[in-house]
Amino acid sequence: TPIAAPDISKCGTNPLSGFRPGESTPTGGDCCPPDSTQIMDFKFPKNETFRVRPAAHLLSPKYIAKFNEAIKRMKELPEDDPRNFLQQAHIHCAYCNGAYTQSSSGFPEFEIQIHNSWLFYPFHRWYLYFYERILGSLIDDPTFGLPFWNWDTPAGMTIPKYFNDPKFALFDPKRNQGHLKGVVDLGYDGKDSDTTELDKVKNNLAIMYRQMVTNATDPTSFFGGEYRAGIEPISGGGSVEQSPHTPVHRWVGDPRELNGENLGNFYSAGRDTLFYCHHSNVDRMWSLWKMMGGKHKDITDEDWLNTSFVFYDENKNLVRVYVKDCLYTNQLGYDYQRVDVPWLKSKP
Ligand code: C2O
Repeated sequence: TPIAAPDISKCGTNPLSGFRPGESTPTGGDCCPPDSTQIMDFKFPKNETFRVRPAAHLLSPKYIAKFNEAIKRMKELPEDDPRNFLQQAHIHCAYCNGAYTQSSSGFPEFEIQIHNSWLFYPFHRWYLYFYERILGSLIDDPTFGLPFWNWDTPAGMTIPKYFNDPKFALFDPKRNQGHLKGVVDLGYDGKDSDTTELDKVKNNLAIMYRQMVTNATDPTSFFGGEYRAGIEPISGGGSVEQSPHTPVHRWVGDPRELNGENLGNFYSAGRDTLFYCHHSNVDRMWSLWKMMGGKHKDITDEDWLNTSFVFYDENKNLVRVYVKDCLYTNQLGYDYQRVDVPWLKSKP
């Protein structure tokens, strides 16, 4: 049985939710979205301008300004508007921190957790899809594409500068202050390595090759293990989810905070604007992986394809979406700027 979209009117009533031992982070119950009386079925965008998501480190000043303006407007929306910045961050918290049970699939005793399984890629793709459309609509720009943090290419391996300007809406004070300028460590395990920046770059390219090629030879290794309604997920997250996805979260998260807020923890990750650019690149990896051909194909299991989620769209409508409708970004009206993929040549 596929996991069915949660009933948001029951958000936070999960008796299993509550503080995990040794954890002091809010639980999903604090992240519930406003309720809605109706759910709409998803429709593919039609007669729209195609969106090209650009590399974050290559943005023109004009693009940076509009991106920042869109985020600023999102932050200025009323608190209870589902498109509001914090409401959008809460989506991540709710789907990760135990706010929802699988009651719509008939298993109220099971939680919904969209990490560490084959739900990782499709959930985040849908999440960004709506996020991008909301940003675009707030600045009246239907061509707006969510920039991707191009951490898989040497020139993109630092936090794009404009994220560090305290006057910007893109700014987030809760980041590791020692990491604002240096090369990211795609294998970060909590300790800073003392290698040169050049070695870090080489190391990162090798990690990319390993996780996108060597360790991702078939759908299971790439997407992660099965996760169906009413049974515990099998075998954990896919190659890229484990690394570099998670190390990048931890590398940006602020060690002065109790739980590595913001990017270093599920409940708070969406509060950092960088989250969405990070995930834009993770999502790009799905596209790149499929372009390699051969066994690099989407999962065909019906339970995966028929898993559903709900999100608010740019018109504040609650929309139900299925995994099977997000497999091709072209159909969703966007693609990624074509840039060099240097790690493909980094076979160790
Ligand atoms: Cu939902 Cu990068 O985590």
